[in-house]
Amino acid sequence: MAAARLRFGILGAADIARTQLIPAFQAAANAELVAVASRTEARARALWPGRILPGYQALLDDPEVDAVYVPLANHLHREWSIRALEAGKHVLCEKPLALSAAEAVDMEAAARRSGRLLMEAFMYRFQPRLIEVVERLRENPPNATWISFGFLIDAPGNYRLEPAFGGGALLDVGVYTINLARWIHGEPSWVRASGRTERVDLTVSMTLGFPSGARAFLLASFDTPEIQELRTGSLRLQRPFGDPADPPYRRMVEEFSAAALNGLPAPLPLQDSIANLRVVDGVRRSLDTGGRDDLAKAGEGVSPVGQ
Ligand SMILES: NC(=O)c1ccc[n+]([C@@H]2O[C@H](COP(=O)([O-])OP(=O)(O)OC[C@H]3O[C@@H](n4cnc5c(N)ncnc54)[C@H](OP(=O)(O)O)[C@@H]3O)[C@@H](O)[C@H]2O)c1
Repeated sequence: MAAARLRFGILGAADIARTQLIPAFQAAANAELVAVASRTEARARALWPGRILPGYQALLDDPEVDAVYVPLANHLHREWSIRALEAGKHVLCEKPLALSAAEAVDMEAAARRSGRLLMEAFMYRFQPRLIEVVERLRENPPNATWISFGFLIDAPGNYRLEPAFGGGALLDVGVYTINLARWIHGEPSWVRASGRTERVDLTVSMTLGFPSGARAFLLASFDTPEIQELRTGSLRLQRPFGDPADPPYRRMVEEFSAAALNGLPAPLPLQDSIANLRVVDGVRRSLDTGGRDDLAKAGEGVSPVGQ
């Protein structure tokens, strides 16, 4: 008997699907890609030679699809993840899970109602090398951590530069830096941010304060030559968010699929994604006011997850 495979459909002929997720679905031992839907058939055809469905809803209605991968522009994550869950599909949704914690809470409620898995595709969490580094740091927590993620954007017309589509460096790369800081230090109690905005935030510099007294200094930017770095004490780790020599996408797909096929919780809990977006909300408030944002006071009743 063939081993069980989770049958994935993809919503949108996204670049990340072409470069990373399609190869990951093809390499995974317990998953397979069965359909792609795009607003434009030709784009879907250019993506892969298999089954193309005429539009996003047709993919959600398809009985051969067990799980949906959502690599849509950020402003569409909430709507299409909820629609997929309501259609009875498991959902692996690209980061950022949503534009705000409130949106993510709605998505979590939809997942609970449906009994299906919803997980943010934070693939960097599936890197054995980084997992080991973070475990060591958590055993002996540093007082200060510096985390940067940035590149020079050159993508006119890309959703990343459109405010209405969830553009900006904070949602694109800042969410990684916040997630890694929280993974190392736990939940922050306050945040202070400043930055440079032209239609969207192009550079955001953040300080996160933790109840232990530790601080994390984060940089997210579309304004800098490529940088990806974690620094703390004597540790200086390059490319914490993805090493092209050892891409983590297949491991993420396999762990998510194993959970879905066996009725287990998703490997990355939704509460962690919600807590991450609570910090994003705080960063935005701090950018608006120019002052420190007390996350605990501004909380939305979501209990942070200690991992
Ligand atoms: N985990 C990672 O390593 C990683 C890396 C890069 C990006 N991402 C995430 O993946 C998602 C896609 O990023 P990408 O770089 O692949 O972007 P992209 O190539 O621009 O793909 C976005 C897709 O969204 C669909 N779409 C539907 N309505 C749209 C609209 N109004 N405007 C723009 N696109 C629309 C398009 O699909 P159709 O036209 O085919 O329907 C498009 O192919 C983002 O959420 C991003 O944060 C993750």
